[in-house]
Amino acid sequence: MPVTARALITSGEEFRVSDPILVVRNLRTEFKTRAGVVEAVSDVSFDVQPGETMALVGESGSGKSVTALSIMRLLDDTGRIAHGSVEFEGTDLATLDEKRMRAIRGRKIAMIFQDPSTCLDPVFTIENQLTETLKIHDYPKARRRERALELLRLVRMPDPETRLLAYPHQLSGGQRQRAMIAIALALDPQLIIADEPTTALDVTVQAQILDLLRDLQRDTGTAIVFVTHDLGVVAEIADRVVVMYAGKVVEQGPVRSVLRDPQNPYTAALLRSMPGAVAGRGDRLTPIEGVVPSLFQMPTGCRFAPRCRHAFEHCVDHNPPLAEITFLRESRCWLHDPEVADGRTMPSHREPQPILGKVVS
Ligand SMILES: Nc1ncnc2c1ncn2[C@@H]1O[C@H](COP(=O)(O)OP(=O)(O)OP(=O)(O)O)[C@@H](O)[C@H]1O
Ligand code: SF4
Ligand SMILES: [Mg+2]
Repeated sequence: MPVTARALITSGEEFRVSDPILVVRNLRTEFKTRAGVVEAVSDVSFDVQPGETMALVGESGSGKSVTALSIMRLLDDTGRIAHGSVEFEGTDLATLDEKRMRAIRGRKIAMIFQDPSTCLDPVFTIENQLTETLKIHDYPKARRRERALELLRLVRMPDPETRLLAYPHQLSGGQRQRAMIAIALALDPQLIIADEPTTALDVTVQAQILDLLRDLQRDTGTAIVFVTHDLGVVAEIADRVVVMYAGKVVEQGPVRSVLRDPQNPYTAALLRSMPGAVAGRGDRLTPIEGVVPSLFQMPTGCRFAPRCRHAFEHCVDHNPPLAEITFLRESRCWLHDPEVADGRTMPSHREPQPILGKVVS
């Protein structure tokens, strides 16, 4: 397989080459609503490498969860993948029948949610739920209890023998999260999709769970797609980041490089709006004005244009392509196209603005 920029990822200061474990291409997910069909995810493409943590980040409503649920084929009855492919180990999950998809869910790709009650049944003990997962996937009966205990130890559950017999309501929020991670790890998946797994936790427990996920990944080699709206968490945990806005990928690249030198005005605005993410830069915190557009009133050109301090006339009617701008870095913005940007006309009340540290003019 040819080595492309996409097939190289950063690992500390090293670059390593591998075939992606997950290849999402031109994914479009729609929902039927009373007011018509809406497109929640539009033309989303990214790769996930074995053993890496890729963060999917963006404000509320940007399409992160719908992307995750599309990959897992867990959309509700009103949702469907209308276009594109989700290739996992050479199989397109987007078109796989439900029976074969069930064999992949849990065994090869597992999901962790923000709210453990999505996964944990209140009327069964943690042992029941762990062994049930193992049973569904034909794990030998004689070894299920031992494996359940081993999993609780792996997720550093305090007093695992007692917690194994507990019901979910007898556990703290952090312990429930650990139990859910144990269920996700039960069958040694190659990929875990974690949707805001630490958002509901207090800061200390959040840090512990992030530490746990980092250590588990180092020890097991599982790839993680980590969905979050928090760039501080991205900086903590991810190797690579994919930034989404209004259903589209607007920027992607190695995490340090994107956070240090964002190329897309949306990423830069997101960074300026987050306390942890800009700490030490000496920048003032500036919230992004306005809101993510409604799916019923999507701007026809660049979707960020109504909120973008760099927007110029061309942006209003023309949708920018996601372009490779430097090694391993992609961004969706007309400012990267000199033919468009050089002759641009700014609205009369605006001046060219710095993106972050450097002026784009
Ligand atoms: N079942 C559904 N029917 C109609 N629209 C939906 C449905 N599920 C999600 N959406 C819409 O899709 C868009 C993307 O939603 P999504 O849940 O993916 O956002 P998100 O990035 O995960 O946000 P958050 O950070 O709040 O979790 C939103 O506008 C949402 O209202
Ligand atoms: S294309 Fe225009 S509106 Fe969109 S991010 Fe770039 S400058 Fe802003
Ligand atoms: Mg979400």
